[in-house]
Amino acid sequence: MDSKETTLTPLDHIPADIVCASDYEQLAPSFIAADRFAYIAGGSGHDVTLHKNREVFADFSLVPRLFHDVSSGNTQLNLLGKTLTHPVLLAPVAYQALVHSEAEIATAYAAESTDTCMVVSTLSSATLERVAKRAGQERWFQLYFQARDEDTFALVHRAAQAGYRAIVVTLDAAVQTPSIRAMRAGFRLPNDILPANLIHQQASEPPAMPAGQNHIFQCYAQHTLTRQQLKKLIEVSPLPVLVKGVLDAGDAGELKALGVAGIVVSNHGGRTIDCVPASLAMLPAIRQEVGNDYPLLLDSGIRSGADIFKAIALGADAVLIGRLQVYALAVAGALGVAHMLKLLRQELELCMATTGCVSIEDIKATKLHRQLEV
Ligand SMILES: Cc1cc2nc3c(=O)[nH]c(=O)nc-3n(C[C@H](O)[C@H](O)[C@H](O)COP(=O)(O)O)c2cc1C
Repeated sequence: MDSKETTLTPLDHIPADIVCASDYEQLAPSFIAADRFAYIAGGSGHDVTLHKNREVFADFSLVPRLFHDVSSGNTQLNLLGKTLTHPVLLAPVAYQALVHSEAEIATAYAAESTDTCMVVSTLSSATLERVAKRAGQERWFQLYFQARDEDTFALVHRAAQAGYRAIVVTLDAAVQTPSIRAMRAGFRLPNDILPANLIHQQASEPPAMPAGQNHIFQCYAQHTLTRQQLKKLIEVSPLPVLVKGVLDAGDAGELKALGVAGIVVSNHGGRTIDCVPASLAMLPAIRQEVGNDYPLLLDSGIRSGADIFKAIALGADAVLIGRLQVYALAVAGALGVAHMLKLLRQELELCMATTGCVSIEDIKATKLHRQLEV
């Protein structure tokens, strides 16, 4: 039987059995066709990094504290000169029409109603202009470099025109190890799921591959951004440029020196290259390299408010949520995404209260208990 026939249509209410944000992950397979679920849930290769991303969070514990008055507690922070009410952002996730007919428009509605900054993917199923009309004031645009610089800069200018406040350029997807899970499930992007932002671009000739060269190295070289391209983007962009997909402290220091406005420590949720370290494991060294006042975000593996607390305690200013966003969208559309975000925030606030933290700064000053070496 076609797997689509076995999936439920999204609910118009929050299911009673959702009691924490990660419950959306448990429920999602009933709402997403099996091949699509394999594509979304899977990591690259054998899922080694995917699992590491989760395991490393379990190595750290929160230590409860006594006698702290937390009645003045709040989760506000300042990021790129703007005050955000909480440190949870929606990560760029391509092709949300795979799980819901309203796709990114529903997600944007949830972002707006929960005061959440949404980072809209270059590969969104709805145009960045349509998403902007629904999303809240704080919205960022995720940029994939295009084959032609003029197409790349056109996207940046469209984003600025549509009121996005930052560009997040993703640098860790030059070459991807295919997901074995998605291949085994027979996943193929359906013909009617299109990158709405790119459909007016003229097709460009793929660059010729010199005879006798190693295909992988050539392909990597053709798709990897150079320092000059990044510098040019920073010059041309009217918006601050952040870089997503950094795991090495030396790279982070160099990006900061190049004028990058902030960094997302990320391994793309384990989806690009398998067997790389968990983002969380690399975060403390990166924070040490860039200093305390530099904007640093983290994603990959976050499933609860306790995970968010741990990421901030280890050096992040804020976090991004990838898969949980898609799962909640599949289960209950905009309502689901808004509910998932509300649950994450409540879970974070509970962690703050039990550890005696009244602010994000307090979390940053908190020492976690570590069970195992990473
Ligand atoms: C289905 C899917 C599509 C994604 N599409 C993009 C994308 O278009 N651009 C990007 O920078 N990251 C993309 N990501 C990666 C996320 O932005 C984020 O780094 C990752 O999902 C975080 O890990 P998590 O899923 O464990 O929260 C995608 C992730 C998923 C699951």
